[in-house]
Amino acid sequence: MSSILIVDDEEAIRSTFRAFLEAEGHEVTTACSAAEARDLLAREPFDVLLADLMLPEESGLSLLKSIRSSETEVSAVMVTGYPDLSTAVEALKEGAYDYLTKPITRQSLLAVVDRAAERKHLLAEKRRLEQENAEYQKSLERKVAQRTGELQESERRYRELFEKTRQAYDDLKEAQGRLIQSEKLAAIGELAAGIAHEIRNPLSAISNSIGVLRRDLEVEGDDRRLLEVVFEESQRLAGTVADFLKYARPRPIQKSAQELGGILEDLLLLLSRDHRNSDRVSIESSYEEGLPPVEIDATQTREALWNLLVNGLEAMPEGGTLSVSVGRTKGSVSPAVEVVISDTGGGISADERERVFQPFYTTKPTGTGLGLASVQRIVEGHGGSVRLESDSGKGSSFILRFPLTSDG
Ligand SMILES: Nc1ncnc2c1ncn2[C@@H]1O[C@H](COP(=O)(O)OP(=O)(O)OP(=O)(O)O)[C@@H](O)[C@H]1O
Ligand SMILES: [Mg+2]
Repeated sequence: MSSILIVDDEEAIRSTFRAFLEAEGHEVTTACSAAEARDLLAREPFDVLLADLMLPEESGLSLLKSIRSSETEVSAVMVTGYPDLSTAVEALKEGAYDYLTKPITRQSLLAVVDRAAERKHLLAEKRRLEQENAEYQKSLERKVAQRTGELQESERRYRELFEKTRQAYDDLKEAQGRLIQSEKLAAIGELAAGIAHEIRNPLSAISNSIGVLRRDLEVEGDDRRLLEVVFEESQRLAGTVADFLKYARPRPIQKSAQELGGILEDLLLLLSRDHRNSDRVSIESSYEEGLPPVEIDATQTREALWNLLVNGLEAMPEGGTLSVSVGRTKGSVSPAVEVVISDTGGGISADERERVFQPFYTTKPTGTGLGLASVQRIVEGHGGSVRLESDSGKGSSFILRFPLTSDG
């Protein structure tokens, strides 16, 4: 069943056509003029327009043109009164689907209307398919864009992961290298300590024997000088071996409550008698009143402080001031006692500051370079810290921090 609009100024034709078409089940609307038909077409959709070409006021051809320009979808069949081919051709050019020439039989009317309606339906179907296709295309494009975005994102993530993995691998390799290096060093250190241990006893036998010979032998001139060299060098060697063993095989820390001020006073007294102390070095000390005792290993702490005091003296061969102070740390989160040992010697340059704590780093002809390394080991073994402040030419300060128990 199709919807059909009949346009004709003759009532007889309108009713005949209506009767034929309604009998076939079509839905029929009629109009007497082009203007009325245009109004109807604007309001509702029709499948087929059946219009007389010869209408009063406005022709069927003009109606056809206006339908075409308004893009109304309807299959137009034009009815012509004369067998006038030129008008029919013009109508077809203007987009008419077909034409009928009067007199019109019921059969030809129904046949042309059916074809026209079918074409209309086919056109509508074509349009629907085109629209569907366009929508599908759009959604496909959207999907492609989305997948492309996802792919780019996953590629970016993959690259990031790859970078991270490579970085982690590099770090691991470096850490492994460091580990192997430090294991090698530890093995070498252990070997060296073993050798030093083996050397220690025969060496002390040698230096004791030389001591006896030096005292008892009556030799003069070059022989005496040689004997002195052997004696001094064996003493020095024994000292180096002892220092090294102390560093390589430290004794466990044995803590007891100690007054840091008292320990320093004793050491300063010893220092004032030491051969390295020239008269041109003055010693200053200050101790904060009412300091609580500190839990430390007295022997090892004494050794560490002694190393620092001797370094200070050795840094001032032309004289200067060695200052020592003990007090509570100010503004520190955990309570601690601070010992500062300062000299006015040549100072330590910025690039030397890390190295001076390394074992065997020395700038002295007879130094072993173990002094500061063991200071650091001892203080850190107490849970404390060592800080160095120094300006080349302006002297150095070593600041040691020993933690106080919270009730101290
Ligand atoms: N107070 C200081 N002023 C300037 N330089 C210093 C001072 N203390 C240490 N140094 C530098 O740091 C180096 C290492 O010191 P460290 O005490 O470890 O070894 P050392 O004094 O050379 O030998 P030793 O094992 O006999 O102590 C010194 O050789 C010196 O160059
Ligand atoms: Mg030293």
